[in-house]
Amino acid sequence: MTSPLQRRKILIVEDSQEIRKILVLTLEMEHYEVHQAENGEQGLRILQQVRPDLIISDINMPQMNGIEFFKALRKNKSFDTVPFIFLTANNTQEDIQQGHELGVEDYITKPIAPQDFVAIVHARLVRAGQVQIAQMDQAYLETVNVLANVIEGRDPHTHGHVERVADYARRLAEKMRWNGDVLRMLEFGARLHDIGKIVVPDQVLKKPGPLTDPEWVLMKSHAEAGAKMLAPITHLRPTLPYILFHHERWDGSGYPRGLKAKEIPVEGRLLAIVDVFDAITTARPYHPARPAHEVARFIQVKAGTFFDPSLVPIFMQVLVDMKLITRDQVSPSAATQP
Ligand SMILES: [Fe+2]
Repeated sequence: MTSPLQRRKILIVEDSQEIRKILVLTLEMEHYEVHQAENGEQGLRILQQVRPDLIISDINMPQMNGIEFFKALRKNKSFDTVPFIFLTANNTQEDIQQGHELGVEDYITKPIAPQDFVAIVHARLVRAGQVQIAQMDQAYLETVNVLANVIEGRDPHTHGHVERVADYARRLAEKMRWNGDVLRMLEFGARLHDIGKIVVPDQVLKKPGPLTDPEWVLMKSHAEAGAKMLAPITHLRPTLPYILFHHERWDGSGYPRGLKAKEIPVEGRLLAIVDVFDAITTARPYHPARPAHEVARFIQVKAGTFFDPSLVPIFMQVLVDMKLITRDQVSPSAATQP
């Protein structure tokens, strides 16, 4: 079976026709699309038409050698991130040193058995793919932070709220052994949870006094508005439960749906606890900052009415670990919850 990985494009730059033939054949048998050049100059010409996923180049070649070829490549913005492997017959310290200085990590020393050659190529492509995914995730996180900052920028009372909520949420989720993509989406969801406040007018969002009924309706609309905004973004779809359900309450008295207990997705139940903890422990126009142990007590009292009673003790453990409360401030009933 041909995997997408095996159909990747590889450029071989090698002056020895004999060696080139063997390498090309070996890779073609593995279903790679292989392009070949005799020297660096020819390699650069091929790159005007093809964007390879990997370049394998000999070092000692006439006209333009591998080092010159590599330098020319890294000056070109379109090719400066293409993975590169040097192929060298005389594996001298000098070659390796020169390549290292230029940032080349990989070498293949000729002669090499075909199966070893294929294994190195495959491993390099897998690693390049992982780096690409990590860079993409970083780019997403930066975008998410920009979006989240829009809210913080508008609401001067919530400075740092998004970062702290994401931090508490991550610690709580890690205690519950969440990992991988689920944890990544939690980071995004925690940062974006109030993104829907973009539809709430300034005079409501920044009002220092209590809200009127119609103002409350507007304020409460932020959960659904946020979910609606992000629903078309495929990559962010797993964050929707955080955005939509972070104001639901265990006893069904929350919004927007009034869901009860386990009807509320766990993402919403988790975020509800950390969101409230941060909101009350920091100063807002309608209340001063309350000490962590007081808010922890409030959350424990509300376990089973506002909050999921099985998550509250785990969050208390997080607060103890963070030294925000002491062990004796965790109520025995909370400590014995499953
Ligand atoms: Fe909210």
